[in-house]
Amino acid sequence: MAHEVREPRLLIVGLGLIGGSLAAALRAAGAKGEILACDPDADEIARGIEMGLIDRGGTCLAALLDDVSLIVLAVPVLAMRDVLGTLAEQGVAGDPSVVITDVGSTKGAIREAAEAAFGSLPNNLVLGHPIAGSEKSGVASSDARLYMGHKVILTPSATTAPDAVARVRRLWQAAGAEVLEMEVEHHDQVLARTSHLPHLLAFSLVDTLARQDDRLEIFRYAAGGFRDFTRIAGSDPVMWRDIFTANRHAVLTALDDFEAGLACLRRAVADSDADAMLSTFDRASHARRYFDSLLNQSSYQAEYQMQEQATLRYRAGPGGEVRGRIRVPGDKSVSHRAIMLGALAEGVTEVSGFLEGEDSLATLQAFREMGVAIEGPHQGRVTIHGVGLHGLKAPSGPLYVGNAGTAMRLFAGLLAGQSFDTELTGDVSLTKRPMGRVADPLREMGAVIETAEGGRPPLKLHGGKGLKGITYDMPMASAQVKSCLLLAGLYAEGETRVREPAPTRDHTERMLGGFGYRVDREGDTCWLEGGGALTAAPIDVPSDISSATFFLVAAAITPGADLVLEHVGVNPTRIGVINILRLMGADLRLENEREVGGEPVADLRIRYALLKGIDIPVDQVPLAIDEFPALFVAAANAEGVTRLRDAAELRVKESDRLQAMADGFSILGVEHRLYEDGIDIVGQGGEGPSYGGGRVDSLGDHRIAMAFTVAALRANAPITVDDCANVATSFPGFIDLARRVGLTIEAQQEDA
Ligand code: S3P
Repeated sequence: MAHEVREPRLLIVGLGLIGGSLAAALRAAGAKGEILACDPDADEIARGIEMGLIDRGGTCLAALLDDVSLIVLAVPVLAMRDVLGTLAEQGVAGDPSVVITDVGSTKGAIREAAEAAFGSLPNNLVLGHPIAGSEKSGVASSDARLYMGHKVILTPSATTAPDAVARVRRLWQAAGAEVLEMEVEHHDQVLARTSHLPHLLAFSLVDTLARQDDRLEIFRYAAGGFRDFTRIAGSDPVMWRDIFTANRHAVLTALDDFEAGLACLRRAVADSDADAMLSTFDRASHARRYFDSLLNQSSYQAEYQMQEQATLRYRAGPGGEVRGRIRVPGDKSVSHRAIMLGALAEGVTEVSGFLEGEDSLATLQAFREMGVAIEGPHQGRVTIHGVGLHGLKAPSGPLYVGNAGTAMRLFAGLLAGQSFDTELTGDVSLTKRPMGRVADPLREMGAVIETAEGGRPPLKLHGGKGLKGITYDMPMASAQVKSCLLLAGLYAEGETRVREPAPTRDHTERMLGGFGYRVDREGDTCWLEGGGALTAAPIDVPSDISSATFFLVAAAITPGADLVLEHVGVNPTRIGVINILRLMGADLRLENEREVGGEPVADLRIRYALLKGIDIPVDQVPLAIDEFPALFVAAANAEGVTRLRDAAELRVKESDRLQAMADGFSILGVEHRLYEDGIDIVGQGGEGPSYGGGRVDSLGDHRIAMAFTVAALRANAPITVDDCANVATSFPGFIDLARRVGLTIEAQQEDA
C-alpha cells in the first residue's frame, strides 16, 4: 500500500561553514527534500543559494518554520538562547513531526538554555556535536567532505524520543560521519581536554609572540612546528569566546592539569634534569604514536562508548605450501619481564628482540606512566633507564594493560609493594579473567587489594602496606601467579616461597638471577629474600616459541613442507609443543643450539611427516599451555584420536580455548568430544583435505585466530576467521610471515 510521504524539509539555522558544509554534504550524497537556511546575514543566504547549497532562506526564523521536518541549529553557542526562545514561541517543542538538533561544541550550556526556553528539555530535541571544523568561516568555505570519516557525538537524555535520535543519526551518517552517543557532562569534559584546551593554548602562544617587539622576525623564521601547533589559532574568535564562556568549569579543570604538567617540565628544564625530560617526552611521543593501536581499540573506545567497531577478519584459502626460513617476533613472556625488571633495576638496561606487540607495549607504557624513561622500541631495541625498586612514581590514572593477563598479574605483585595506590584495568576479555589467584596470596602477604565481583579486574591496590614473605602452595600450575608472588617478594620482609604443582616457565627466576638477585630452588619450590636490589643487565629476547608454534604446526600438517624457524627460545619449561609434536611423529630438529642472556635458543627445522593421534602426557600440559589451539589443529590432521586431559586452565585464557576450538571444529566438521578439563579430537590422517571450510569465531583470542588460519592448509574450502585484531597482541606481522612461507590469507576490515 502506498503511503503519502511528506518530503523531508531541512532548516539550517546559522549558515556558516558548519551549516553550509552539512548542506553541501547532503547535496553531494543526493539527499531528497528541500534545504532551507536562516541567517541574520542576508548575504550569506544569497551566497548559499548561489552555490546551490540551499533552495531558499531568509533572516526571520519564524517565517521559515512551515512544514519543516528537521531543524539544525548551527549558530554560535551563546546565540543559541535567542534561537531556542523563538522556537519555543513558535510551539515546536514536542511536535512529533519536527526534530531539532544542534552542532554546538559544548552541551551543558545549550541544554540549560533549552530548559530555560522550553520549561523542560523537549523530547524532540537531540543535542549533538560534529567533531570537525576548520579555521575558515562563512558559507563560502563550505566543504562537502568536512564530516567524512569524522565523529559526531549525540548526547540524548533519558527522555529524548528514540525516533528523533535515529533521525539525527541518519542525517550525519548521510554526510559521511560516524555517530556515537555519550552523556552531556562526559562530552563537555572530554572536549575541554581534547579540543578547547589546545585552542586556548594556540591562541595564547600566538598572541604572546605577536606582542613581542621582534615578532616579525619570529614569524618570518617560524617553521613547520610553529605552523602545525598554531593552525587553530586562526579560528573564529567569537565562536571560541562563546565556547570558553559556556564550558568554563571543564576548561578550567583541564587547564589546571595542563599547568601542573607544564610546571614539572619547567622544573626539569631549569634543573637540566635529563631523565625527567626524557621520561616525559618519551611517554608523550609514544602515547601519540600508539594512540591508534593502544587507545582506539580499547580504553578510548570504552570512554567513548562506541557502538560500532571495525573488526578484523582473516580469510585463509585452502591448501598452500610451507617452505622457507623465517624468524618470528620476540618472546612475549620474556619481553614483559625485561621491561619490568629493567625499570626496577639500578642502571640502564638495553633490550634487543623486544616484542613490539600490544601486550608488551602495554607493560612498557604503564612504566612510562610511572615515570620511567624508556627509549624505543626501535626495531626491537629498547633502552630502559631503571629507577630502582623504590623509584616508581604514582601514575595519574588507572594503568590500562589491554588484553595482557601476564601484565596484570605480574603488575599486581610488584605494585602491591609500592608506597602509592594504583588501579589496573584491561579490555573486555581480560576483565572476565580470574585475578583472585593473585589477589588472595598477595592479601596473605599483607597487601590490600580490591577486585570487582568474582575476583575480576579492575584491581585496586592500596600502597604503603608493608608486605611479609609467605610460603605459598599454588593450587594451579601458573607462572603468572609464581612470578607475581616473587615480584611482591622483592618488597616483602623475609622469604617468599612458592611451590608449584608442576613445572611452569621460569623466565622470572632466570632474569632475576641475571639482574644479580638471588633466587633459590629446591625441587618444586623456589624462593627469594626481600630487600635486595636489581642491577641492570642486557637482555636478548629470543623468538617466541608460542608464535613459532603456528608455523611448526603449519609445516607438520602440510605435505612437502620444509621450514626453518630461527633463534627460537627453547627453555625446557616452554618446549611442551616440541615434545608433543615429536610424540605425534613430527620430523622436528633443533639446530645451532646456544644460550643467549640466560635463555637456551635454537633454530627449529621441521619437515612434513604423517602425524598420529596420541594421549598427551599430563606433565607436558603446563609446558605447552599456550600451544593447544595450534596443537588441536595438528590433532585434527593426525591419524586417529588425540586425547587431552587435566587442561581446565585452557578455559580461563584469553577465551575459553577448549570451547572456542570445539565450536570452530563443529563448523569445519572435525569430530571431537569436549570434556570439562580437555578434549578428544578425531584426526583424519592421510594427505588430502581433513575437513571443510567455513566461518569461525576467534572470540577475540589471538591464538584461536592464528590456529584456524593455519588449519586452512588442510581444509577443502576457505576458512574465514572473525575478530582477529588481537593477533597484534602477540604476533605483529603474522599475516606477512604466513604469506611469505606460502599460506594464502586476506585480511579484511569489517564493521561489526
Ligand atoms: C605466562 C604464563 C602462562 C601463559 C601466559 C604467559 C607468563 O599463564 O599462559 O600466556 O608469561 O608467565 P598462566 O600463568 O596463567 O599459566
